Amino acid sequence: MMPVRRDLRFNLPAQRACDWHAQGSHVTHFYNALSLLFPAGERFFMDSVRNYRDRIDDPELKKQVLGFIGQEAMHTREHIEYNDLLQQAGLPAHKLDNRLLWFLNLFRKYLPHSWQLAITVCLEHYTAMLAALLLEDSSRIAGSVEGYTQMWTWHALEETEHKSVSYDVWNAVLMPGLGRYLLRAGTMLITTLIFWLIVFDYNVRLIVADRKRGGHLRGMWRLTRYVWGPRRGVLPSIAGEWLSFFRPGFHPWDHDNRDQLARIDGLVAAVDAANAANVGLPGTRRARRGVRAAA
Ligand SMILES: [Fe+2]
Ligand SMILES: [Fe+2]
Repeated sequence: MMPVRRDLRFNLPAQRACDWHAQGSHVTHFYNALSLLFPAGERFFMDSVRNYRDRIDDPELKKQVLGFIGQEAMHTREHIEYNDLLQQAGLPAHKLDNRLLWFLNLFRKYLPHSWQLAITVCLEHYTAMLAALLLEDSSRIAGSVEGYTQMWTWHALEETEHKSVSYDVWNAVLMPGLGRYLLRAGTMLITTLIFWLIVFDYNVRLIVADRKRGGHLRGMWRLTRYVWGPRRGVLPSIAGEWLSFFRPGFHPWDHDNRDQLARIDGLVAAVDAANAANVGLPGTRRARRGVRAAA
């Protein structure tokens, strides 16, 4: 799978930043909390892979790394603008984004490169698992505001497209054996704990900052069902995929959902059409045109 850098822009209506999801503002803030992690998180991913770029011999993998970095750079750019909308809506977006940056900079400073790459491999498994949920059951986002839905679908498709790149780099540059396995498995346990602590903390802080909106009892119930619901909740739904990471022979494409990628061209066309229709409309972020560019 060769990741392609797509320079897309989205029309995100600013007035819907806090309640764009069909299931209301509390679920919206679950996604918004994830969005706050991306600028600092994805820069960390890019750097941790760049650290090993010179040690990759396989020309195919080198190209994939370029595509991976190109895609994450576009995601970072778009999520920075998305997060600016949250800040404008009165939420502490920049504070929370900077807090994560500070935390990840500690990792950059004190952890060996192999540990940093291990963290990236684990978090890329997380983005792949969450992307698969969104792509394989469209009711998870159906009926939401179009621009936000398109942006999350684009991000999910590209996370799927490049889901094995950091793992393939990991396998190419680190010595095989028990040490490599233990580092990967141990990092997944710690990363899981820290990741969800931060997501839930940010989710609650956004809800508290947006408390004037009201409807909290119903909102918290919907959010709890969305995340923990036994049948389709996010956490129960990824449990099997999370466990599969601990198999010594694990590979991200063991979960073969490449058929989803056939949707990309249709999405790009829909984003272009939406942007053309929305140019100059009040309330849209700014007049923008989607441009597709291969890396
Ligand atoms: Fe990304
Ligand atoms: Fe990614």
